[in-house]
Amino acid sequence: MYRTKNCGELRQENINQEVILSGWIHKVRKFGGMIFADLRDRYGITQLVFNNEKNAALCEEAGRLGREWVVQAQGKVSERTNKNPNLPTGDIEITVSALTVLNPSETPPFTIETDTDGGDDLRMKYRYLDLRRQAVRQNLELRHRIAFAVRTYLDSLGFLEVETPVLVASTPEGARDFVVPSRMNPGQFYALPQSPQLFKQLLMVSGFDRYFQIVKCFRDEDLRSDRQPEFTQIDCEMSFVEQEDILNIFEGLTKHLFKTIKGVELPSFPRLSYSDAMKFYGSDKPDTRFGMKIVEIKDLTAGKGFGVFDNSEYVGAICVDNCASYTRRQIDELTEFVKRPQTGAGGLIYVRLESGGLIKSSVDKFYSPDDLKLWAERAGAKEGDLLLILCGKTEKTQKQLCELRLEMGARLGLKSNTFSCLWITDFPLLEYDEELGRFFAKHHPFTSPKPEDIPLLDSNPAAVRANAYDMIINGVEIGGGSIRIHNSDLQHKMFSTLGFSHEKADLQFGFLMNAFKYGAPPHGGIAFGLDRFVSIFAGLDSIRDCIAFPKNNSGRDVMMDAPSALAQEQLDELNLIVTPNK
Ligand code: AMO
Repeated sequence: MYRTKNCGELRQENINQEVILSGWIHKVRKFGGMIFADLRDRYGITQLVFNNEKNAALCEEAGRLGREWVVQAQGKVSERTNKNPNLPTGDIEITVSALTVLNPSETPPFTIETDTDGGDDLRMKYRYLDLRRQAVRQNLELRHRIAFAVRTYLDSLGFLEVETPVLVASTPEGARDFVVPSRMNPGQFYALPQSPQLFKQLLMVSGFDRYFQIVKCFRDEDLRSDRQPEFTQIDCEMSFVEQEDILNIFEGLTKHLFKTIKGVELPSFPRLSYSDAMKFYGSDKPDTRFGMKIVEIKDLTAGKGFGVFDNSEYVGAICVDNCASYTRRQIDELTEFVKRPQTGAGGLIYVRLESGGLIKSSVDKFYSPDDLKLWAERAGAKEGDLLLILCGKTEKTQKQLCELRLEMGARLGLKSNTFSCLWITDFPLLEYDEELGRFFAKHHPFTSPKPEDIPLLDSNPAAVRANAYDMIINGVEIGGGSIRIHNSDLQHKMFSTLGFSHEKADLQFGFLMNAFKYGAPPHGGIAFGLDRFVSIFAGLDSIRDCIAFPKNNSGRDVMMDAPSALAQEQLDELNLIVTPNK
């Protein structure tokens, strides 16, 4: 028997018990005639003691132990004289009577501690060692608990988990596909699914009624802290539902997860239309942990001789509470921030509402204190507050104000440890790409327009709103979905609005349109990013830390060294000709 107990479970009440533990040597300390070794496993750390006076041979053996050796230790649970209140097992130690080295270890390239000395690259190369660190393992334990709770909850509501294929056809729209060559069909390729979207819709046609799947998805897109090329969705679809049903069921799932996993009772999720989200936050994924809403003040600024505002389509402001005392240097820093290429504003105007009703601004030359008071009133600013103002093209400026708002939220510590969830609804169905000169589906081409907007598909496609929704938590898009088109004529119309010829639509999606001819029920669904869910719950900055074996920022697995070149025989077998990198 390798062990009778694990390294995290022994307490005062186990004192005098004879136990066997197995695990990894975390640390060894020599102290006079004693050797103390911390033994670690998934469950915790227990101190082993070797006493030279009692057993010199054993003590000598213990003296040879190195970090990360795998050992088995037998001994008696004893009360510690020097208790460690920071360890759950800190009241006890094991007075070892027998020690077996199960496997020695080379010195690890970094220490297996919370504050490890390993840099990012090194930890990714030796990810199996990094995963021994408690912080990383805890994230994966949390991930397991979330996935488990999702399954239990959805099962209780009659959802069936159905697996869908991983080798699928490449389809246009969406992100770039990862492709896989087919040996048996020379010159042809599978794609890895960006999501099981079409399959889950087909399952509704098949009458499955309520489907879910915790499923890997693959997208060849540029990486960010909340994006990985392979990531996991909690993918769901339901038949005979309207938007309201989906929002209620999945708000229920989210509240259930917060309650069971975090012990947090959430209030009802507010709903905000896409257009209001853009107007008040400059983003379709607003961080609503703090206010500082954007207000438009263009009408109040016009006709006073300030050309910069007069010539701008839009002038908007945010009110930063209690920051009228910002120094010239602080304002300059913010100006630099908005002028960075990533934000791209031309400059920053400020108004300080100082004590005693004094108002000072960077545009005093053009605007009287009474003019500025009107701006302050519109923004709900009070004495002691600071107004920050940007101008330019409407959407671009709103996005810049969004970045400035988030920056101020971070600087002022307003992104507190709370959870602010909301739904964004009424997305536009289509997005116009100026460069390509055509419309694209904002969510995906299977999303249903709002029935009352269908006539606009011909006259004003940009104005058509979709029955689509996103769930946002703390400024992160956690999930998104829509009510689908279930009628092949409307689906054809959607494809033609997207610039697909009848033939091309049939070639790419003929199977779906055919399926719709055989009794497709009204249906809709949603998919959550499991990785994003876990990182929000764990308070992580990047989803990488809750994925066991993630890719780095260049999409590489540095441990396996993937992607990598193939041997010529393998390329020949796949009928692939690789041209050398230019
Ligand atoms: P969507 O593309 O919005 O919808 O994706 C759903 C959710 O998946 C997560 N997500 C990602 N997480 C990590 N890395 C990525 N690269 C990544 N891309 C997306 C996000 C997102 O909200 N089939 C539709 C859903 C539907 O209509 O039912 C879909 O995939 O949290």
